[in-house]
Amino acid sequence: MTMLILGQVLAFTDDPFRVPPEGAARYEARAAVAVENGVILGHGPVQAMRDAHPNATEVDHGDGLILPGFVDAHVHYPQTAIIASWGKRLIDWLNTYTFPEEARFVDPAYANTIAARYLDLALAHGTTSVASYCTIHPSSVDALFQAAEARGMAVWAGKTCMDRNAPDTLRDTAQSAYDDSRVLLDRWHGRGRARYVITPRFSPTSTPGQLSALGALWAEHPSCLMQTHLSEQTDEVAWVRDLFPDSRDYLDTYEAHGLLGENGVYGHSIHLTPREWDRLAEVGAALVHCPTSNTFIGSGLFDMGLAATHRVGLATDTGGGSNFSMLRTMAAAYEVAQLRGQALHPAQLLWLATEGSARALRAEAEVGTLAPGSAADLVVLDLASTPAIAQRSNRAETIWEAVFPTLMMGDDRAVAKVYVAGKAVATQTSG
Ligand code: GUN
Ligand code: ZN
Repeated sequence: MTMLILGQVLAFTDDPFRVPPEGAARYEARAAVAVENGVILGHGPVQAMRDAHPNATEVDHGDGLILPGFVDAHVHYPQTAIIASWGKRLIDWLNTYTFPEEARFVDPAYANTIAARYLDLALAHGTTSVASYCTIHPSSVDALFQAAEARGMAVWAGKTCMDRNAPDTLRDTAQSAYDDSRVLLDRWHGRGRARYVITPRFSPTSTPGQLSALGALWAEHPSCLMQTHLSEQTDEVAWVRDLFPDSRDYLDTYEAHGLLGENGVYGHSIHLTPREWDRLAEVGAALVHCPTSNTFIGSGLFDMGLAATHRVGLATDTGGGSNFSMLRTMAAAYEVAQLRGQALHPAQLLWLATEGSARALRAEAEVGTLAPGSAADLVVLDLASTPAIAQRSNRAETIWEAVFPTLMMGDDRAVAKVYVAGKAVATQTSG
């Protein structure tokens, strides 16, 4: 059965960091997205779509803006319950809040509860796909993939590996990290919409032996993504220098152990040297900008200029980030860029939250776009969701002016409807 979803439609035709932003998208004020079996068939003017699909059912979202569902390229679902914890920098924050919370995931029932809560919160904020770290417990990975499967969501995730500089209850070994990751990879990678991601937390919490073991696993499964953290805070960069005295720089600690590649996804990537930028571009690795986290934990200002030369995704970094919303995250990305004299266009912000993040995950054929053949994972935004937003957007003369107040001031009230694989989701706010 074909369904036509009606509303305003904004679809990218190019990368707004590589062509003039306004020329990178096609806007249709009154259009329909045709969906069948959970997949997008196409979109276009309403009458043309009705003629092409005469037997289709229709759902009309009026002035709602239909976009690909948001893709959050770096989250820690186990940190859901400690989001917005006050007052620490990275290493203290990990020790004070994060590790005690992650230790609770030894209980699979707790992992199931938080996985369900996290994905429901993500959906309520218009996020239909995420790339998540789990905890060292294999059952924390099963919990997230099972919860995603129950919701029909495409989720990227992996067991977080740590064999030093973490509490006893949160340490594995080089061998068990390899073995457990391999079992989970075999169980989940490519099962439905699940994709396994090899996940060393970051160089300070892995011995060289563990990094090498995970590098070997990646070499055996090169189609998998590998996600980790890179150069988030200056203290951390100094710590890595002490822990790896023979490495040229932070990136080199990964490269030396087989953990640098075109399917590598490097969260934060703030305090990089020119050599590291060049090397990341050379191998075609992805960087993930986590602006609410970077301001909340006091990490630094990501250089958005890199989006012209590197694949860059956008992420909340829940729970180092201070919000589940990719709208709030776009606002923070805008603010951070302003502090660096880089005014991001609304097209660039929306790109980062959809196709940019999808490309960072090498997933743009499935999520993050409205292209025919993509999964029908959609968010419909109400561009007048509060009186404050409405009074500004009502004066807009272009779609960019109409959408920008929602990017800056919108929250889950702006999420009018979410579809996952063509199915409407009953979210907490949209019913
Ligand atoms: N670096 C290593 N682990 C983490 C984490 O859980 N959150 C953040 N923001 N940075 C990290
Ligand atoms: Zn992180």
